Amino acid sequence: MPRHVLAISIALLACTSAALAGALTSVSLAPAGRFDPGLKAQSYDRDLAQAYVDSQCWQCHTVSTLSVELARDFGAQASGARAAGPDLAGIGGLYSDGWHAAHLWQPQDAQAGSKMPSQRSLFVLNGLALTDNGRSEKRPALKLKTQQAIAFLQSLDLPSVGRLPWPRGHRNLPESGNVKQGRDLFVQHCTGCHGERANGSSPAARFFAKPPANLAGGVMQWRTTAAPLPSYDDLFTTITNGLPGSGMPSFSAALTDRDRASLVAYIASLNRDLFDAYEPEFEKEVAGIPPALTSDLIARGKTLFGDKNFYKCADCHGADGAGGGHLQSDVISKYGFPPRDLVSERLRRGDWAGVYATLALGLQPQMVGYLKSDRSNEADLWALAAFVRSINRFEFMSRAQD
Ligand code: HEC
Ligand code: HEC
Ligand code: HEC
Repeated sequence: MPRHVLAISIALLACTSAALAGALTSVSLAPAGRFDPGLKAQSYDRDLAQAYVDSQCWQCHTVSTLSVELARDFGAQASGARAAGPDLAGIGGLYSDGWHAAHLWQPQDAQAGSKMPSQRSLFVLNGLALTDNGRSEKRPALKLKTQQAIAFLQSLDLPSVGRLPWPRGHRNLPESGNVKQGRDLFVQHCTGCHGERANGSSPAARFFAKPPANLAGGVMQWRTTAAPLPSYDDLFTTITNGLPGSGMPSFSAALTDRDRASLVAYIASLNRDLFDAYEPEFEKEVAGIPPALTSDLIARGKTLFGDKNFYKCADCHGADGAGGGHLQSDVISKYGFPPRDLVSERLRRGDWAGVYATLALGLQPQMVGYLKSDRSNEADLWALAAFVRSINRFEFMSRAQD
């Protein structure tokens, strides 16, 4: 690992420890060694790097955290010839593989106004020739080499100087937006994935294991309220923070608060009657007051995670949260993607109250909600949320308390 990267990760760890020291009295969150960023993060794999180089990405991109290795193994230019595009260091795990495929196929679908040319030579079309307008009856699939190039990008998960972390935490809608302006913004920034009718049907959608959400159907997953619809604050939060690791990007940098408020207004306008009916529910957020974060709480969460009667988390997520539970293959065959690997994947909504809300309400239909109607198990859910964050590599590497 280059020295400056090591310095960043050490500095980062120091911050984390400082934050922890404030939050917890002399508690060590991590089993020794497990979260040493040197252990797992960004292990340099020469074969994957070769695929990246063969795919010509270096013609326009740099990977600042690996410039020494790339220059050593593939020559000076491989470390970044012209840097016409952004430095890719730190991009690992931020987007799903599906996002990368959709982006290479049609960059403007994934990032509005992108100046990156599409990279269709990296796909096979199951034997069909590619027509001029890119249409084909058969699904374009990534060549093996391109899959390896993407795996290389997914390994670049050490925070880099140039890539700011996406914002996180629940947000309040700052102002009411304008529906017409929201519709224009939606066409510009969102239809590439969510489709013109906002129902999740788009050319890019075929690349995603978990497709872009249907925003017109009246049921959404990333909520803090018991209503089937997200509150306006929830929508504003998702659009602002994104859902790391899924392909749903953060729009905090690309769009102003007012623009994002207008998008909320537009999405609500697609289901005006339902939103009006549920508006009173939006006041009742599921999150109560979080207890103090202690090592006892985390230990309790660990026990509950293995509970075989009610919570049964390990059935899907595996005993240590890293996947491989006995229901995993059922989940994959039903939904097309596995239960989250809670150790190595980024959490979509990783702040403490966010994880609590996910557990309370579930991500239906893939995962049920666990909050009992008399709310008698709130304390259990805070403990489970604390445990999940303590085993997640990115949560541990980023901020401990938020
Ligand atoms: C001809 C130049 C060029 C080539 C070749 C190229 N890119 Fe890009 N790429 C760009 C530009 C320019 C952008 C920035 C798009 C924008 O915002 O206008 C970009 C953006 C990206 C992004 C988004 C980065 C971010 O920070 O959000 C990713 C990921 C990416 N490229 C991956 C790749 C991969 C993988 C390859 C090789 C298969 C590749 N690119 C080849 C020019 C290129
Ligand atoms: C590159 C593809 C992509 C783009 C562009 C994109 N989204 Fe998404 N979006 C997704 C995916 C994929 C999901 C599902 C993520 C999940 O649930 O894991 C999603 C989920 C969402 C959700 C959460 C729905 C729920 O179930 O709670 C909202 C809200 C949303 N997107 C709004 C938008 C808006 C508004 C824009 C434009 C400003 C946008 N998205 C642009 C891919 C995209
Ligand atoms: C029936 C299988 C199943 C069970 C049981 C289950 N989960 Fe999940 N869980 C999933 C699936 C599938 C996902 C991914 C859902 C998605 O992205 O739509 C998931 C996602 C998650 C996430 C990710 C949230 C994020 O922000 O990315 C967390 C945290 C989580 N589960 C924790 C738990 C805990 C704790 C328990 C036990 C109380 C549990 N799960 C029980 C299937 C399950």
